[in-house]
Amino acid sequence: QELQMSLEQIEKGGYDHFMLKEIYEQPKAITDTYRGRMLADEGIIRMSGVDDNLQKFLNADRIIIIACGTSWHAGLVGEYLFEDMARIPVEVEYASEFRYRNPIITSKDVVIAISQSGETADTLAAIKLAKSKGAFVFGVCNVVGSSIARETHAGAYTHAGPEIGVASTKAFTTQITVLSLIALKLGEEKGTLSKNVFHTYLQRMQLIPGKVEELLKIDKKVQEIARVYKDATNCLYLGRGFNFPVALEGALKLKEISYIHAEGYPAAEMKHGPIALIDENMPIFVIATNKGHYEKVVSNIQEIKARSGKIIAIVTEGDTEVKKIADHVIEIPETEEALTPLLTTIPLQLLSYHIAVFLEKDVDQPRNLAKAVTVE
Ligand code: G6P
Repeated sequence: QELQMSLEQIEKGGYDHFMLKEIYEQPKAITDTYRGRMLADEGIIRMSGVDDNLQKFLNADRIIIIACGTSWHAGLVGEYLFEDMARIPVEVEYASEFRYRNPIITSKDVVIAISQSGETADTLAAIKLAKSKGAFVFGVCNVVGSSIARETHAGAYTHAGPEIGVASTKAFTTQITVLSLIALKLGEEKGTLSKNVFHTYLQRMQLIPGKVEELLKIDKKVQEIARVYKDATNCLYLGRGFNFPVALEGALKLKEISYIHAEGYPAAEMKHGPIALIDENMPIFVIATNKGHYEKVVSNIQEIKARSGKIIAIVTEGDTEVKKIADHVIEIPETEEALTPLLTTIPLQLLSYHIAVFLEKDVDQPRNLAKAVTVE
């Protein structure tokens, strides 16, 4: 028993939980994901799975991304990335819906399946369906040699290292890293990204791990915010553009490990429903980065304020406007808007973690959830 305990302690590397360890591993995980693939100084991205199938990607009529859970959220970020950088139409589908919907798939479609475990039953079944209709299927998996990695025609591993906590953290940011690399590569090949912009992105991407590192230093501040809102029964997460999926993911993290009801919404959609829920007991986490439709999100924040909602805003460092209105402000370092999900996600992960710890929940093994859902 004692030996077992200490083994687990060693595995957790001095952290109280795997989830916290994995949150802190993100600077390294992201670096490991682009290492050898992105040569920022030379201005090169090489990924064998993409390079070997480049024509399929470049000639694709559209990209269909299939995934479940957190991986689906990464896929949504991918939609914004591929459309923005490579101008390829993208659809993002829940694997469970896709497989039973009699979807229209042709041999000119590229399907990207995203899965940390590589074992999710619905995703695997959706891949088999897409293959049977002649699509080229590309896998983005974390677990090497997993079923999905073997079933797909080609792929790119995330190299996040083992993720033990049921709530996915470093898998998410490394999935986004892989998708960013592919989108950048295709954007460069298609000429939809100028050489200059492409090079700038590569330089900025290289700075991301350091910025994540910097962000992790505000953990104490996030913990204090968590203390204030730990007894909330409902929370709202708002974001726009690249950060809309981050809002969904923030809400999912809170639900998963603290069992607090939370919803993520595109900020502008707030007025079509969630605004009715806002009162002085409602914490609302708003992502308001400086290049992400900032003025519009600020006006959403004002609407929340007018209804006495509590505002916890994630802003770009140096922000002044939101600071005047929000109850709490968390600053992220400056980067390209398309890369901000890699930063804005971090405080939301920490926040869920601390709330769950305050509430004495089983952070690494939340009730009713499994790390990999291998049955329908
Ligand atoms: C389960 C896990 C989630 C994960 C989802 C998809 O629900 O608890 O953390 O996001 O499955 O898993 P996958 O391994 O396919 O990414």
